[in-house]
Amino acid sequence: MRLWVGLRTGREEARIIGARVPPGNPEMPANPAEKRLVSARCVCYEPAPEGSTGVFAMADDGSIRPLIAGNWKMNGRRADGVALARELVRQARRSTRADLRCDLVICPPATLLTMLAEVVADGPVGLGAQDCHPLASGAHTGDVSAAMLADAGCRYVIVGHSERRTDHGERDEQVRAKAEAAHTVGLCAIVCLGEAEAERARGETLAVVERQFRGSLPVAATAANTVIAYEPVWAIGTGKVPTTAEIAAVHAQLRALAGNQMTDGQRLRLLYGGSVKAGNAAEILAVANVNGALVGGASLSAGDFWAIARSCP
Ligand code: 13P
Repeated sequence: MRLWVGLRTGREEARIIGARVPPGNPEMPANPAEKRLVSARCVCYEPAPEGSTGVFAMADDGSIRPLIAGNWKMNGRRADGVALARELVRQARRSTRADLRCDLVICPPATLLTMLAEVVADGPVGLGAQDCHPLASGAHTGDVSAAMLADAGCRYVIVGHSERRTDHGERDEQVRAKAEAAHTVGLCAIVCLGEAEAERARGETLAVVERQFRGSLPVAATAANTVIAYEPVWAIGTGKVPTTAEIAAVHAQLRALAGNQMTDGQRLRLLYGGSVKAGNAAEILAVANVNGALVGGASLSAGDFWAIARSCP
């Protein structure tokens, strides 16, 4: 049996390393090469599908540990990107894992990934990209594959962001293929969905979200390799935010869909995104089935991003 094995270091996010362990002695992997990843602090959690990889998403008490992800979009030069990432790492290192109450990820533009991988290396802040191509390599000018992102040090990749869906005409099938590509190389896919303003006005929010969920998620999606981000298109960058009741309704539906489609859907992280700020984060993050936030503009300020992270219940 293949077990999920995570490093529990107090501060750092436990990572699934997929070590094979002999029955009855779950802390000792059979393969000596994996021993360096196992210590007295290493805990085995539960059976996982053969070959599954991902980032561990459970808090010490068994509840879902929130994820606060910063989508920097097309912003950042080397100097300010490094300064922002360094400041977040500095803040996070000063907190214990229990005190921080969430996992942190930054998703800078592709130009900064390699550089920032060094800044965040082995620390409490994870690195993600903003998109990937569904294929591993080939003649696709301007694209970057999931394998390249993993090679650059990423652990996450956003797929299906509404700006990609709008600017590049991406459809659910492509989003699903990108998420599958991410899973193939061990990246956690942050799959975005959400209704447009006109769809909301027509009362189609739940129908749109359900269609996108069914169309964009790979069949092999699990709570370990996938995160859903509900981002109403009309709330992105506008300062407009749905009511907490509206967010709760969508997230309840997402939870039900995840529960039906995935064996561990009750543990899938469901983020809210769209004009999340330091001033409204606590209210949003307290909504049932909201397990974190995907933050755009406010993630470009270390102080604001940190304040949002500190707002996790
Ligand atoms: P804002 O937080 O700037 O509204 O952006 C949200 C978003 O698109 C995150 O992916």
